[in-house]
Amino acid sequence: MSVHRPVKRLTAPDILARKGGAPIVSLTCYHAHTAALADPYVDFLLVGDSLGMVMHGYETTLPVPLELMIMHGRAVVRGSKRALVIVDMPFGSYEESPSVAFRNAARVMKETGCGAVKLEGGRRMAETIRFLTERGIPVMAHIGLTPQSINVLGGFKTQGRTRDAWAAIEEDARQVADAGAFGIVLEAMAEPLAAQITKAIPIPTIGIGASAQCDGQVLVMEDMLGLTPRVPKFVKKFGRVGDAIEAAISEYAEAVSNRSFPGPEHTYEVKD
Ligand code: KIV
Repeated sequence: MSVHRPVKRLTAPDILARKGGAPIVSLTCYHAHTAALADPYVDFLLVGDSLGMVMHGYETTLPVPLELMIMHGRAVVRGSKRALVIVDMPFGSYEESPSVAFRNAARVMKETGCGAVKLEGGRRMAETIRFLTERGIPVMAHIGLTPQSINVLGGFKTQGRTRDAWAAIEEDARQVADAGAFGIVLEAMAEPLAAQITKAIPIPTIGIGASAQCDGQVLVMEDMLGLTPRVPKFVKKFGRVGDAIEAAISEYAEAVSNRSFPGPEHTYEVKD
């Protein structure tokens, strides 16, 4: 007799407990099918608002609506069993006040079944992070290059390239940790600064274009698969999925054009 043991999903406290331990593995994810493929290998799946650029062809993440995050969040929760699913709060859905942030984050949690949300910003978001975590919503913070602020930053620019900027960025990390964030993404940041922040704060740092010293790493899945044509310098392409898709489509087009598809193995005979 076999006993059915349901897979236990990782939680925000499980991720927090990994500080200084085995590296945390994570990827962005936007669909059920890729969620199922990644689930056995990752600790968390991030439904990033990068989906606006990767899936929907926007130039930036700014136009992404809350409803789109909820729709993709639901798909990723349905496709996965074990990984913590974290959904990004999109631009305009949380900055105004802690109560607006709570209302929208609670909607994301209820309607997707995810285990946590992520929002961008350092000390300016500390009050909101405290408000959400005290009311049952685990929050991952995100500092360094924060793509929702590109109009203020002047573009997708690496942060902390000069040492005089380091103290302010480290202070951002300390304040979101003090406010109760269970983890923090460090994006596109000078390597020694990311390593220094990782030593300084008691919550896991998740690097993307930051440092191998971070407590974990995240990449946009389509970038590391080799599906997106242009990727930042910090992305290593672990696959060539774009080439594989193009080869399959061209083989299909040729087969249709020369009437070799569908052949007998893909068509139905009459049953008399
Ligand atoms: O939206 C996203 O994919 C992200 C990652 C790049 C960390 O925030």
